[in-house]
Amino acid sequence: MNTPIQSWQDLGVWIVGASSGIGAALAKELAHLGARLTLSARRLEAMQALGIEGALLLPLDVCDQRQLEQACKAVAMQAQVDVVIWVAGIYRPVSTAQYQLGDMLEMTNTNYLSLLYALEHLLPYFLQRSKDPGKHSLGLAIVSSVAGYRGLPKALGYGPSKAALSHLAEVLHLELSQQGIGVWVVHPGFVETPATAINDFKMPALISAQQAAHEIVRGLGRSAFEIHFPLRFTRFMKCLRWLPDRLYFALLRRALGAEYAQAKQISNSKA
Ligand SMILES: NC(=O)c1ccc[n+]([C@@H]2O[C@H](COP(=O)([O-])OP(=O)(O)OC[C@H]3O[C@@H](n4cnc5c(N)ncnc54)[C@H](OP(=O)(O)O)[C@@H]3O)[C@@H](O)[C@H]2O)c1
Repeated sequence: MNTPIQSWQDLGVWIVGASSGIGAALAKELAHLGARLTLSARRLEAMQALGIEGALLLPLDVCDQRQLEQACKAVAMQAQVDVVIWVAGIYRPVSTAQYQLGDMLEMTNTNYLSLLYALEHLLPYFLQRSKDPGKHSLGLAIVSSVAGYRGLPKALGYGPSKAALSHLAEVLHLELSQQGIGVWVVHPGFVETPATAINDFKMPALISAQQAAHEIVRGLGRSAFEIHFPLRFTRFMKCLRWLPDRLYFALLRRALGAEYAQAKQISNSKA
């Protein structure tokens, strides 16, 4: 599958989405393991506050194509990056009753289209580097979500953006792993971060950002394409994936009965 990353010592790693949550925790863990880090996100102060000595801070809005192009060039020329970890993402709950096109486009741009823009610059860079006989491990890890497995409630914008990301990772893996460039997809369950602080329900099998970062680093040390955690939750989500549609929808409607009845009431009263 992928060539496992055995040692992070001196490996050039670009974490995109490093200012908080999972990305920030990853930055701390990889700094500890001796990686040469380049960190990106919009909030420079938040990345400075991580206090990672020697890290190159490259503020960036992934939705801005010009900024992305400049950052990719800087990463290729100054930082000699070997591994890119694409973490940047946003989450807003959207159901049909609260449909806002702006939310949908913002999530699609940030979570999915941004990586397409970046690949325009990263692919030629990786393909060139893969011909270098003295190269380090090369790789791209894409943080998607179990929300991309199947349709979930209030995930009108988030779910499809993550499903697209996971599919993209699969297609990339098919081609790039043959050329010595690892491609991993990461499917976390619930992780306690600023993004999930808005959830108004009890998140099952919730883990900390540090635990998530640890699982990602562990997964990159293995050859498997998919890194998913915590297993007690992701295994259950995988089972749902294999259910026939009729059963899946019936199960979800039943589990979320009260909430759906309320949503139906709201949409009826709006009509
Ligand atoms: N937390 C969970 O339960 C969970 C579960 C599954 C998947 N995930 C995924 O894990 C990733 C990290 O999420 P998190 O939970 O750690 O949330 P978070 O703490 O909100 O972190 C999101 C990161 O993405 C960056 N980002 C957002 N929009 C950006 C933009 N336009 N340009 C550049 N950077 C941007 C943020 O930095 P700035 O705001 O400084 O730009 C921040 O560093 C996301 O892709 C999320 O979908 C999270």
